Parts: sequence; structure tokens; C-alpha cells
Amino acid sequence: MTSGFTWGAATASYQVEGAVSADGRGPSIWDTFAHTPGKIADGTNGDVADEHHQRFGEDIRMLAELGLNAYRFSIAWPRIVPSGSGAANAAGLDFYRRLAEACLENGVTPYATLYHWDLPQPLEDAGGWLNRDTAERFRDYAVLAHDGLSDVVKHWMTLNEPWCSAFLGYGNGEHAPGRTEGADALKAVHHLLLGHGLTLDAIRSEGSSYGIALNPAPIHAATDSPADRDAARRIDGLRNRMFLEPLLSGRYPADVLEDTGMTSWFAAQEADLPLIAAPLDFIGVNYYCPTTVAAPDGPISSPVASTQPGSENVVAVDTGLPRTQMGWPIQATGLRDILVTINKLAPELPLYVTENGAAYPDSVTADGAIEDDDRLDYIKQHIAVCEDLVAEGFPLKGYFVWSLMDNYEWSWGYSRRFGIVYVDYATQARTVKKSGRWLKDHLSRQPAG
Ligand code: FCB
Repeated sequence: MTSGFTWGAATASYQVEGAVSADGRGPSIWDTFAHTPGKIADGTNGDVADEHHQRFGEDIRMLAELGLNAYRFSIAWPRIVPSGSGAANAAGLDFYRRLAEACLENGVTPYATLYHWDLPQPLEDAGGWLNRDTAERFRDYAVLAHDGLSDVVKHWMTLNEPWCSAFLGYGNGEHAPGRTEGADALKAVHHLLLGHGLTLDAIRSEGSSYGIALNPAPIHAATDSPADRDAARRIDGLRNRMFLEPLLSGRYPADVLEDTGMTSWFAAQEADLPLIAAPLDFIGVNYYCPTTVAAPDGPISSPVASTQPGSENVVAVDTGLPRTQMGWPIQATGLRDILVTINKLAPELPLYVTENGAAYPDSVTADGAIEDDDRLDYIKQHIAVCEDLVAEGFPLKGYFVWSLMDNYEWSWGYSRRFGIVYVDYATQARTVKKSGRWLKDHLSRQPAG
């Protein structure tokens, strides 16, 4: 591997911080959702999580000791602007300043994501991402965060996985705010991307780099039948093209707007597209698995709450690949495929893998070790894909494992562990797993960068 490659680990504010009412933090949609009975598999919430708000110093030292040189964390909007709009909360900014400084003191480069899903609840009460005004409030908050931290943070991502915010948040309701709005979820896509564009325009400055983290994935048709190929076109449209095309080419895919009955609504937003398509310094790719889809015969009888408005009857097909505990099929070549797809759309654009990892049920041995061979195998395979691409001269600049440590996995609560470090939630003790030990060893063999 060439020197200068970024090797990092990622987390997100609500998943690790806890301390949900410290220093004047306001409530977010995830506080509300997680405290609503029936929404989270194990009935838990992020009130305490990994206590990263108190323990970040120790966590960043641990990250550095693993040989990683970058930390991707997210900034909680409700810590910086507790009610969603208005002035900055100095204590919130100070927390992220101390966190970024701890990174720098440990030789770790901070990569900040401005929105990893914790929308201030008062903004959801005013319509959330279905309300255009939220995009402007996001820009205002982002300016405050950037103004307060841009001397210590030089790498910025606007949004994390806007597909999830729109289609899990406003489509099937699996994520906060838990709404099921059918094709209106596409309005959330536009307002999120508008928020991205407004923010980039307002914060971009010399000497720093700015991007967005998406979750694109290869979408395959189960068979060569016209119906299955059409199903793949539809899902590829919703998952990939609905984000990549406006960002990279300044237009929305016409077929997706037609499938969803949204053509005229989007026509009225066209003036926003130049802002959304403003040049990026990089795209972050969060990759976990590919998807294979089929279209069963017949029309859908009644539209259901879905992540795929207009294509509710398209089903994911089991192709026999091994799966992680999430049920996600494992195919490391899918990472290569999706990076190559994006590279074809934007050949010069630097790419990062901003998340990649796997959930497995860990067990602790009698002497306190975690021998997570399955996770290790997953990470190894995906890192090998990245290293091959770099060796071929592909513009891949970094790899961030998801996650530095076990944490609150959204609607799965604490029942899914993705960390390369084990967290004992009763004591908050951290133990590096075998996957983490392997990564440390692997990184120790890299040329100094
Ligand atoms: C991604 C999220 C991240 C984490 C992983 C497993 O979709 O960005 O917060 O939950 O999945």
C-alpha cells in the first residue's frame, strides 16, 4: 500500500456519545424514537451508549494505538444548536473542539460528519426533512459548527447516507422519525441534498476538503427476465442514481421520478440543482453488501410502508452468499464494483470507503478475549479489495472500518456488535477484538506515511 493512505475507524454521535442532556444538548428525533415503545428491537436507547462524551480521550488513544491515523465521528446538531435553529451552544462546540484536539495530539486526523441522523426534534415537529426549511436550518447549523471548528477539523462530510434518512426515516419508518409517507420520502431526498448543497456553498474554504458519505450498492437482477431487470433498474434508481446523478451531473433520474409519480414536484425544484451539483472534493462510500432483486408476478395489492416507493413489490432474493448477523450477504467484490461505478461517473474524484464492517454475535472467552474470526475475515477481504484498487492506481484515498467499537445500532439497539473493539456495556470496559489486533498488525507492516 502506498504511503499517505488514510486508515481510520468511524462512529456516529448518537450511537456512541450518551450524555444526551449534558451541556445543554437538545432532544433529537433519535431520542424520541428510541424512547417510543416497540421501535427498538431490544427496547434500549442511546442515553448512555458508549459514554464516549466522557471517554473520548481514552477512545482516541486506543484508536491511535491500533495504528489508525484518522477518526471519522459525527457532530450532533442538537449539541451545537439545541433547538435546531438559533445561536451556537458554546459548550457543544467545546466538546467537539476537545475531541478534535485529542485526535491531533494522538497523530489522528479528524474527519467530521455534520449529519448522522440526529435531527433536532423541534425541526421534525415543523415537518422534518419533508419541509424545505430544514435544509436552510441545516446550513445555518453547519456554518456555526464549521466556524467554530475549522481550525482543528480539515475534512468535512455534510450528510451520512441520505438514503437512510429519507427511505428508512420517511419511507418504511424503521428509523427516526418513523414516518411512512410513500413517495413523499423523495421530497426528503431533495431537501437533504439541498441541505448538502447549501452547506457546501456556505462553508467551503481553502485548505480543507469537503464531501458526502453515501451508501450506494451494486444492484443485480435475479434473472435475465425483463421483469427482474426492470426491478433492478428501479432499485438501482432509488438507491444509487437518485443520489449520484444530482450530485455528479446536476439532474435527477427521470425514470425514478416517473416510477414514483414525482416528476412534476421535482420539476419545480430544478433551480436547486446547480447548488447540489457543486464540485465535491471526495465521495465517501459506506459499503456493506450488494442486493439482488426480483419482481414477482402481478401488481401489488396494496402499497405498503416501504423503502422503495413505486416499486413496493420488488423483493430481495437470497443468492446463497454467506451472511452476517444483520442478514446482509457478504461479497467483497461488490465493494470494487460500486467504487468502479462511481469512478466511471467522476474519473478524477477521490473516493474513500467511509464505512465497512460486519455484525456478529461476539462471545468473550474465559480469559477475556474476543476471537471474532468471522468479522476479521470480512474486514480482511474488503481491505484486500481496497489495496488491489490502490495498487492499480485507482483514486481511493482511505478506508474507515465501521466501527471503532460496539455501539447503539439504531433500531437493533445494542443487539448488533460491529466494533473491532468490544464494549462491555455494564462496565464500559473496552477490549480490542481479534479483528482489531489483526488490523493493528496489518497496519504495522505499511510503509510509513
Ligand atoms: C450504516 C450507518 C452506521 C451503522 C452501519 C452499520 O448504515 O451509517 O451508523 O449503523 O450502517
